[in-house]
Amino acid sequence: MHYMTAGESHGPQLTAIVDGVPAGLRISEASINADLARRQSGYGRGGRMDIESDTARIVSGVRFGRTLGSPIALVVENRDWQNWVEDMAAFGEAPVGLHRETTPRPGHADLVGALKIDSDDCRDVLERASARETAARVAAAGIAREFLADLGVEIFSYVTSIGQAQWIERDPMMEAPDYKPLEIEISDVRCPNEAASDAMRSEIEKAIEAGESLGGTFRVIVRGLVPGVGGYASRNERLTSRIGAALFSIPAIKGVEFGLGFEASHLPGSQVHDQIALDRGNGFTRMSNNAGGLEGGMTTGMPLIVTCAMKPIPTLGAPLQTIDLDTLEPAAASTERSDVCAVPACAVVAESEIAFELANAYLEKFGHDNMTDIRAAVAAYKQRLRTAAK
Ligand SMILES: Cc1cc2nc3c(=O)[nH]c(=O)nc-3n(C[C@H](O)[C@H](O)[C@H](O)COP(=O)(O)O)c2cc1C
Repeated sequence: MHYMTAGESHGPQLTAIVDGVPAGLRISEASINADLARRQSGYGRGGRMDIESDTARIVSGVRFGRTLGSPIALVVENRDWQNWVEDMAAFGEAPVGLHRETTPRPGHADLVGALKIDSDDCRDVLERASARETAARVAAAGIAREFLADLGVEIFSYVTSIGQAQWIERDPMMEAPDYKPLEIEISDVRCPNEAASDAMRSEIEKAIEAGESLGGTFRVIVRGLVPGVGGYASRNERLTSRIGAALFSIPAIKGVEFGLGFEASHLPGSQVHDQIALDRGNGFTRMSNNAGGLEGGMTTGMPLIVTCAMKPIPTLGAPLQTIDLDTLEPAAASTERSDVCAVPACAVVAESEIAFELANAYLEKFGHDNMTDIRAAVAAYKQRLRTAAK
């Protein structure tokens, strides 16, 4: 299952094409749109989010709510396009008085992108480098999420810090919650702890007032995985590298940790590695989950736990110094309408990237033509593991 997206931030629409989807998978437009709404929300988002009301329109590959096995094309319209029809026209001359972006923002793709493609208008770059593109990813990943849900796999995420406000979880040893706390979706910073949510919100308020921006950390958890998905034999099989690369493809992600992550490097082996136990009739299990659900590049059957760090948003209300590409003199960087903090939204994008990687690994292991055969293959595999543990 692969996806490709097209579309500029202020163009008419974002488009995603997903291929390699098995036939017979039930797809719900409502679930895809619910994920899009989660990506759009969050305290600290910019004015653009008040204009947009993201919904995905599926234009191929699905009939009567079930996949056909053919490529699925999804469209997410940009309502803001109405305000950019002339400035983003595909054909014709640039309008008289067009405002060119010549003051590249430190931390964004503006400067290096303009140099790379030989443009005197950073808009040629930022229209695509903008994380607006992640709306198409979330829509596309809705297909992967439905596939995983069909096989009993659930993905969720929560925010662990924004700026200096950090939520210290009670259990630092990676005991993933065995339920999805409702408080995550209720919190506008996606943090299940009320006091920590308040602290995060007040960090964002301070940043807004100071013309600043903020980053933070979040955790993605996946439950219901069977052991042995992924592979140990080559770099292309290892889920560790595949999920790592997928997460680093999200703009502004600067760190990814599996399980204990960096913390594991300070501890002796006996406090890190997850001891093996046998649950007779059910299979092998672990006495802890410090590895975060991956060992040797494969799922262990314990929850996958991945923590990501997002850098602060590059567009600042109080802009940093840049060099004007026209005058070559120092100037203040552009201040596009912008988010001040997008950590909660980024967590939803990360769920989506992980969903794609896991869906692909399942398809590799269990076949990819149709859901009936895939479900049967998963059931037979689970049965073999149970029988082996008798
Ligand atoms: C969901 C999400 C929303 C974002 N919103 C903005 C924004 O409004 N303004 C901005 O300057 N950067 C925003 N960013 C961050 C930039 O896209 C990112 O910093 C930039 O592309 C460069 O990232 P890189 O150096 O990691 O490639 C957002 C990122 C994500 C994931």
